[in-house]
Amino acid sequence: MSPPLQDVADAVESAPSRSVSPADPCTIVIFGASGDLSRRKLIPALYSLAAQDCLARRFAIIGFARTPMTDEAFQQTAVDSVKKFADSSTANGEQCSEFAKALAYVSGEYHHAEAFEKLKQRLEELERAHQLNGNRLFYLATPPDIYPLVVEQLHKAGLAKHPNGQLWVRIIIEKPYGRDLASAQKLNESVLNVFEESQIYRIDHYLGKDTVQNLLVLRFGNGIFEPLWNRNLVDHVQITAGETLGVEQRAAFYEKTGATRDMIQSHVLQLTSLVALEPPAMFDATAVRNEKIKVLQAIRPFTPESIKTDVVRGQYGPGSAPDSSSLLAGYRQEPGVKPDSWTETYVAAKIQIDNWRWAGVPFYLRTGKRLGKRVSEIAIEFRRAPHLVFRGQDLATNALVLNIQPDEGISISFHAKLPGQEMRLKTVTMDFSYQSAFGGGERSAYATLINDCMRGDATLFDRADGVEATWKLVDPILEAFQAHRPKFPNYAAGTWGPREADELLERDGRQWRRL
Ligand SMILES: NC(=O)c1ccc[n+]([C@@H]2O[C@H](COP(=O)([O-])OP(=O)(O)OC[C@H]3O[C@@H](n4cnc5c(N)ncnc54)[C@H](OP(=O)(O)O)[C@@H]3O)[C@@H](O)[C@H]2O)c1
Repeated sequence: MSPPLQDVADAVESAPSRSVSPADPCTIVIFGASGDLSRRKLIPALYSLAAQDCLARRFAIIGFARTPMTDEAFQQTAVDSVKKFADSSTANGEQCSEFAKALAYVSGEYHHAEAFEKLKQRLEELERAHQLNGNRLFYLATPPDIYPLVVEQLHKAGLAKHPNGQLWVRIIIEKPYGRDLASAQKLNESVLNVFEESQIYRIDHYLGKDTVQNLLVLRFGNGIFEPLWNRNLVDHVQITAGETLGVEQRAAFYEKTGATRDMIQSHVLQLTSLVALEPPAMFDATAVRNEKIKVLQAIRPFTPESIKTDVVRGQYGPGSAPDSSSLLAGYRQEPGVKPDSWTETYVAAKIQIDNWRWAGVPFYLRTGKRLGKRVSEIAIEFRRAPHLVFRGQDLATNALVLNIQPDEGISISFHAKLPGQEMRLKTVTMDFSYQSAFGGGERSAYATLINDCMRGDATLFDRADGVEATWKLVDPILEAFQAHRPKFPNYAAGTWGPREADELLERDGRQWRRL
């Protein structure tokens, strides 16, 4: 039986604060430290944690990659990254130079045992120099095919477990976690051969966004929403993750990946499970992740027949930017993309969750590149009023919308009477914006998640069975895509995807939200 809502609300309230607790002293080792993720996200996130006193006073960061670089050169790259990418409210020249002093760099080949011996020596030296007690966090930010090798080398170098049981060794593994069920299982097997599940933090940075976490607070920290959150009042749910950007310089990665692997398997299904889960008994990693898995297991599996009717894929052709007349190249004309590529840059899908709460309530998911707007949101669309006493008014349904990006917040739409004598109704919204309610200063999703990992809180990270459950759902779609060559391109850059995606909802008497 589900616990009383009040208990859950109390658990949420008494959960460790995600914004202030400093982490344990530790050394962070970033593999792939010369790369884009490290430069744009990880170093700025670590700096902002240090600047907000969320790292312990004593810490050290080691970058590891193949590119030869001195400590000084790595420190300078870090300073440049902070200036360019850190939140302007925390970027401060003096603090930044102090922060850079804690950075060191080791270069080496991943298949060379000596490189890991060199890393180990450097780690121990820094631990002595900075008086660190020996907690270690390894961050895998290399191309994913290197992950098993790094894990094996850490094991062989004796770095995966701490001889002193009081101290911790943890590993954050970037997405994509596998490229199908079989490879995800294989990766789980190699990682779990070396690390305990409790040491492993599979990251999806979407889950570090405040609004995503706030979804749980909205549902279980308030008495008024949860009673509405079911098949009795919800007509359907729409989850959108839209980008205006094209593939940019990432064709080598994207050509092998596509929108289904890149977005649906990870971000979009993570959001789905958080919207749909039952109240967890408490706000901790085991309880929340157990409930998420139950949702994934209740999603009706796709079959070759249901994929034909319920899944739409697309690829953008040339078009024009939504807010200007500048011309945009089609996907096949982008640098590094094959001229006859059939990688999908858009996917829409209708899913059904076969449980008591959601039976008969479709969840429509869509994601794509080069769409009409950069927006990620979850919209809960409620049923229409059962009887309309205001004749002649064509009213939209009420919607509760969680804006995940770019403007984090929540809004609810309802109908109000327009001023004047006539009874004319208009749809209006009540809005909560993170920016206006709490001001700036919110942390990047990466900062939140790295800090959680250092504090041993895995609530927002994926578990081995969770990641396998998402691949199990997505695998039949990937197989069907592989088997049939579509007519691509089928939507113009700067629009909202292929016509078939509109038809997916029109067949059910519904429409995508106009964003
Ligand atoms: N960038 C993002 O915004 C983002 C977002 C989500 C997830 N991720 C994931 O994070 C990881 C890193 O992403 P990234 O964008 O930083 O990638 P990246 O820039 O392509 O690669 C990171 C580093 O890995 C090293 N590397 C490249 N090819 C290698 C190879 N064959 N063997 C060993 N090392 C190699 C390179 O450093 P050296 O040549 O110096 O060794 C490179 O600087 C990837 O798994 C990616 O999917 C990235």
